[in-house]
Amino acid sequence: MQKRIIRQVEIEVFQRNELEPAAQQLCRIAEKVRLEAYAPYSRFLVGAALELSNQVILTGNNQENAAYPSGLCAERVALYFAGANYPDTPPVRMAITASHANSEVLEEPAAPCGACLQALHEYESRFGTQLEILLLGKTEVWKVKGLVNLLPFSFNSLEIK
Ligand code: THU
Repeated sequence: MQKRIIRQVEIEVFQRNELEPAAQQLCRIAEKVRLEAYAPYSRFLVGAALELSNQVILTGNNQENAAYPSGLCAERVALYFAGANYPDTPPVRMAITASHANSEVLEEPAAPCGACLQALHEYESRFGTQLEILLLGKTEVWKVKGLVNLLPFSFNSLEIK
């Protein structure tokens, strides 16, 4: 071995009431929309609330399908709606919450899947901005400042140029 590559990531852990009011509100919106998820196959509900730089808040929840791969995660439902309807407005913050149907939210927050991380990363590079991600647990909120802290080895558009 000639060298080793180490990239460190950082997540800040808060109690819900320590967050600024706008962030707490975004968390509540994500929780509300989680309950409307269409997840009859996995019975795993995910809600996402996305705040844009113009203060507009968009939501998404997971949408499943009998042909399983045709479903889509909550994060990308919200993100692609933003891309379709606010193509010039960067997203700045996303709150994400998950639970099993008929049960409380997960004790520890669930991180977005790899495909969603890559999709979120696309919006950071598209707008040259950083996205704050709030991952909701039962009592804690994990604040992630920038996708680099969840996906340190993202696929980059420079690699296809
Ligand atoms: N899911 C999300 O909505 N977001 C993620 O980041 C991971 C998984 C959904 C997809 C599927 O409907 C269910 O959770 C179980 O995987």
